[in-house]
Amino acid sequence: MNPVICIKELNHYYQEGGRKKQILFGVNLEIHTKEVVILTGASGSGKTTLLTLIGCLRSVQEGSLKVLDYELNGASEIERMKLRQRIGYVFQHFNLLDFMTVLQNVMLSLELQKDFTPGDAKRKSTEILQAVGMGKHLNAYPRDLSGGQKQRVAIARALVHRPPLILADEPTSALDRQTGREVVELMTALAKEQGSAVLIVTHDSRIFDITNRIVRMEDGQLDLDYQGRLSVALPTLSDNQLTEVIPQIKMLTFQPGEIVFRQGDVADKFYIVMEGEVEIILEDPDSEPKLLKTLGANSHFGEVGLLHQAKRTATVRAANGTTIKVIAFDRTAFQNMMLNSEMTSALLNYEAMKIEQREAKNRPNVYQQLPLANQELQILEDYCRQTSRTKIDVLSELVNQLSNQLKDNE
Ligand SMILES: Nc1ncnc2c1ncn2[C@@H]1O[C@H](COP(=O)(O)OP(=O)(O)OP(=O)(O)O)[C@@H](O)[C@H]1O
Ligand SMILES: [Mg+2]
Repeated sequence: MNPVICIKELNHYYQEGGRKKQILFGVNLEIHTKEVVILTGASGSGKTTLLTLIGCLRSVQEGSLKVLDYELNGASEIERMKLRQRIGYVFQHFNLLDFMTVLQNVMLSLELQKDFTPGDAKRKSTEILQAVGMGKHLNAYPRDLSGGQKQRVAIARALVHRPPLILADEPTSALDRQTGREVVELMTALAKEQGSAVLIVTHDSRIFDITNRIVRMEDGQLDLDYQGRLSVALPTLSDNQLTEVIPQIKMLTFQPGEIVFRQGDVADKFYIVMEGEVEIILEDPDSEPKLLKTLGANSHFGEVGLLHQAKRTATVRAANGTTIKVIAFDRTAFQNMMLNSEMTSALLNYEAMKIEQREAKNRPNVYQQLPLANQELQILEDYCRQTSRTKIDVLSELVNQLSNQLKDNE
C-alpha cells in the first residue's frame, strides 16, 4: 500500500522584508496507514509550516509532497480544497465556532461531504460525540465547556468523517497534563479504530510514549529517524526505553576538523555518531598526536570519560572532509539510560573498561613529562591523595624504612 504521506526533498520559503527566507530544507518523510507519528522540535524550527503544507493549507513551492497519493506540487486551489475534506484537523485552540452548538460544530464537518443527508450527519455526529465522552453536552455552546471538553469536540469534528489522515498541531498545549494525555489517547485510539494515520506536532514530551515513531525538526531539517537510528546504535534499549531517551537528547553538528572534546576536558556527555566520521586522538605534549581510531555512523564515544575517569582520556574531532552529526546525551540523560537499561549499562561498562585498558597502555607516562625533581613530588602527591595520607606521614615512614635498610646493610 502506498504511504498516506510521501515527502521528497521539500523546501519552503517565506518572504521576509522583501527577502526570501528558507524555512524547510530538503525534508523527506513517509507516513503509512495506521501509523501515529509525533513531530517535535524547537520553536520556530518549521513544524507548523510542514503541517500546513501537508494539510493543503498552503501551496507547495519546491519538492514533492504527496498526500493520499495526490501530488500537491502544482495542485490547484480547488484540488487542494477537495483533498482538505479528506483530512481531519485538530488545533491548539480548538477552533470551534462559538455561535454553533457542540453537535452543530461536528455536523458541519459532515455537511461539507457530499454523501451525507442531514439525518445521517446528526446520527454520526451524535455517535462520535458519545465516543469522546461528550454525549451529555450535544446542545451546549463551546464557551460553556472546559478546555479538555472543547478539545474532545474538536477531535470528534476531526474524526467524524473518518478521514484517512489526521493532523494535530499542539493539541495538548492549552490543556493540563492529565487532560492533555487523555485527549491525545482518545484521539489516537479512535484513529486506530478507523484505520487513519495521525501526525501530531507537539513539544509535550509527556505524550511521547503514545507512539514509537518520533521525528524531530531542527532548523527546517527533518532529522533522521531518531528511534530507528538509536535502536541500531544501542540495540540493547527496548522501545519504551528509546521513547524515554529521545526527549532528553540533542543533535549537534561539527564542521570538518572541529574538536568535539579535548583530552583532559571534564567529561559531561555521551555521543553517538549519526553522520560522518570522528577521529579519536591521543595527545602527548612531547610527540605528535596519535590517531587511535576513526568511528563512523552508529558508533558511540564518550562513555569512558563518564564511567571511569572524570576527564576525557583522548581528544575527539570531526574527520576532515565531512560535516558530522552526533546525538549527545548529557550526564543526567546518560545516567538515566544506564539506570533504565541494565543491558546497555553492562555493555557500555564492558566496552569502557576495554577501551580504558587499551588507552592506558598508549597513554604517555604522566610523570615523565615533569622535570626530575617535580616528578618525585608529583608521585608523592598522587600517592598521598590515593591513600588519603599526609606527606609528613608518608615521608617519615620512608625515612624510617631507609634508616632500617641502612642499619641492615651495616
Ligand atoms: N507567514 C509567515 N511569514 C514569514 N515567516 C513565517 C511565517 N510563518 C512562520 N514564519 C517563520 O518560519 C519559521 C518557522 O515557523 P513555524 O511556525 O513553522 O515553526 P514551529 O516549529 O511550528 O514553531 P512553534 O513550535 O513555535 O509553533 C519561524 O522562523 C517563523 O518566524
Ligand atoms: Mg507551530
